[in-house]
Amino acid sequence: MHTLTTSQPPSALALKCDFIDKVSSRTANIGVIGLGYVGLPLALLFTEQGFPVTGFDIDTKKIEMLRSSRSYICRIPETDIALATSQGFRATADFEQISKMDAIIICVPTPLTEYREPDLSYITQTVRSIVPHLRVGQLLVLESTTYPGTTAEVVVPLIEEVQSGDLRVSRNDEQPGHFVFVAFSPEREDPGNSSVARSDIPKIVGGIDCHASELAAALYGSIFHKTVPVSSTGVAEMTKLLENIYRCVNIALVNELKLLCLRMGIDIWEVIAAASTKPFGFQAFYPGPGLGGHCIPIDPFYLSWKAREFDFATRFIELAGEINMAMPYHTVDFIAEALNARGKALKGARIVILGVSYKKDIDDLRESPALTIIETLQKSGAIVEYNDPYFPRIGKGRKYDLQLNCVPLEDIGEYDCAVILTDHSSYDYEQIIHDAQLVVDTRNATRGLSSTKVVRC
Ligand SMILES: NC(=O)c1ccc[n+]([C@@H]2O[C@H](COP(=O)([O-])OP(=O)(O)OC[C@H]3O[C@@H](n4cnc5c(N)ncnc54)[C@H](O)[C@@H]3O)[C@@H](O)[C@H]2O)c1
Repeated sequence: MHTLTTSQPPSALALKCDFIDKVSSRTANIGVIGLGYVGLPLALLFTEQGFPVTGFDIDTKKIEMLRSSRSYICRIPETDIALATSQGFRATADFEQISKMDAIIICVPTPLTEYREPDLSYITQTVRSIVPHLRVGQLLVLESTTYPGTTAEVVVPLIEEVQSGDLRVSRNDEQPGHFVFVAFSPEREDPGNSSVARSDIPKIVGGIDCHASELAAALYGSIFHKTVPVSSTGVAEMTKLLENIYRCVNIALVNELKLLCLRMGIDIWEVIAAASTKPFGFQAFYPGPGLGGHCIPIDPFYLSWKAREFDFATRFIELAGEINMAMPYHTVDFIAEALNARGKALKGARIVILGVSYKKDIDDLRESPALTIIETLQKSGAIVEYNDPYFPRIGKGRKYDLQLNCVPLEDIGEYDCAVILTDHSSYDYEQIIHDAQLVVDTRNATRGLSSTKVVRC
């Protein structure tokens, strides 16, 4: 349903100038699709910067909550949503509104299938639902993390296949045409890390053609202090994967060294702290009970999958995956050993898990190692409960069905073992050690506190 269908279509240059004018005057309508951990903060940032913003989601519960200025993400206070609403932010499930947008930013999930292959269904479903409402001159940006080639090989052909008129994706055409522009710009958010303001995180942008790159740079340049244009969507997609693979591989390295250090009786945390004093060439990564979240355990495998098309084995990714995936099982072994040393068996032991989110101070349970650890402990016959200030209940997810309620910290002394899986800042670790019979600490949360009740692993 594109509006410009005259016999003389505009040039890409004319469309570009029009878009940039709208961005400069803050009159460009911004549509953000997928109002989750990435999309909602982005929508709020554009609103804060004076743009008219519409958020789209298929989850009508989220839409209803936003419309009544309620938040479903802990770190986004309801006052921020109320303020954005008063500034014109709207949330909707009505995709016909897409035709009114000048820029459309896609922030939908990119998980793995049960066979650990890329699941692009959220992206393709989104593209299918917006294409009937696309019009000439719009900029479409994919922000979801994905393998290099997704924008050019999946999104662009789908747009052109699904649309019924003469709308085309701009590819540096010299002749005028009914163009839409397509770019990729990865999200680089670090949930729970407030040390860098979101607008201070440089924004990578890569377009299908030079026009799309310029439009995306203009758009993001209006809310981020620095944009980093790259030569293609593939480079932008690969940049995000490099960043996450770098983390994944380095975390695997310290996880493996932690296992060795435990055997050698060396404190890996002390080693990392000492190595961190080197002013160059070393960046600290920390071991833990396993990887979690929507990014680090998943994104690297998007690249491994794509690499197979080129007869290429990504060995670092596979090895890091193998080490990181084994960590929850090592944690269960450490818990069993710690109980054993006190003459107790895992079977029948009462265990309380402290912290279930995949990292501290956030309300995100996705891929959390706590889920695997709880299930594995249960399979071994332990009676497992949990405490986490961010989760009053753990019900059913894509891969788990635990049906547990958060238990009070005050009862910690009733358990044979308390296991610190997430080092939330709100916990009083001295009190925990005081009250508990045995504490297994996978995060070095009890550093500086000396007690025979504590086993660090
Ligand atoms: N969470 C992070 O910290 C983070 C950081 C960087 C990159 N990313 C990437 O950003 C993307 C989104 O991640 P997220 O954490 O925000 O996910 P999320 O699950 O929190 O949010 C995704 C939202 O998209 C909605 N959605 C799904 N299908 C849709 C459709 N067809 N149309 C409209 N809405 C739809 C869902 O209802 C949900 O609200 C992923 O590719 C992820 O890898 C996430």
